[in-house]
Amino acid sequence: MAAVIVQGLGKAFGRKTVLKDVGLDLARGEFFALLGPSGTGKTTLLRILAGLERPDTGTVLAPRRRTTVYQEPRLVQARRVLANVTLGLPRSAREAGLAALAEVGLDGYGDAWPATLSGGEAQRVALARALVREPELLLLDEPFAALDALTRLQMQDLVAELCARHRPAVVLVTHDVDEAVRLADRVAVLREGELAVDRRIDLPHPRQRDDPAFLAHRALFLSHLGVHV
Ligand SMILES: Nc1ncnc2c1ncn2[C@@H]1O[C@H](COP(=O)(O)OP(=O)(O)O)[C@@H](O)[C@H]1O
Ligand SMILES: [Mg+2]
Repeated sequence: MAAVIVQGLGKAFGRKTVLKDVGLDLARGEFFALLGPSGTGKTTLLRILAGLERPDTGTVLAPRRRTTVYQEPRLVQARRVLANVTLGLPRSAREAGLAALAEVGLDGYGDAWPATLSGGEAQRVALARALVREPELLLLDEPFAALDALTRLQMQDLVAELCARHRPAVVLVTHDVDEAVRLADRVAVLREGELAVDRRIDLPHPRQRDDPAFLAHRALFLSHLGVHV
């Protein structure tokens, strides 16, 4: 069954056309990664999928239960961690919030203040806040871009594990080709308002970066981004 169906999607800001003709079908539980140079409209596409922005043309079908994790954790500093996770939810969500914190490796952090967290921990809270809403569509807008290399790898593993367990459809926007090939079932490149390549990655997990098949996918996506290896 499809989780997302996008057809003929177009979006312009003033005279600037950002998305021309985007078509995208995502199955339930499918992990889709979107690559593209900055300014190509990746965030705009995510905002449309999130229902935060209206397309000018085309149709978008997306599940109602959807949530976004951004590059910055966007925590409310005046609220403790658990209150951030359950923000906007009824009191009865407390147990689910604690369970989500445990799932992201933050057991016992419910009473902590956001200001006391490391960048990686704060991003884990943002993941827990997404998870507790049990999204059918999880939108990730460069969620690891601000983290150091080691933390980024740990967060990638965590997201892979959480998505394998909860099976939302995922759209991950990233600049990092290795990250896309490591995590996704399918990787596409957004260029000049269209999905220029859209390829399935049929490699078993965990994926090895030195596997020739991994390297072949990597080289292909890099070449579509104008980098030749
Ligand atoms: N609300 C807006 N008003 C005007 N221009 C916008 C708006 N949102 C995005 N843009 C423009 O659309 C283009 C694509 O932006 P964005 O989707 O953020 O790209 P990306 O996420 O790929 O870097 C950029 O040129 C940006 O300046
Ligand atoms: Mg962006």
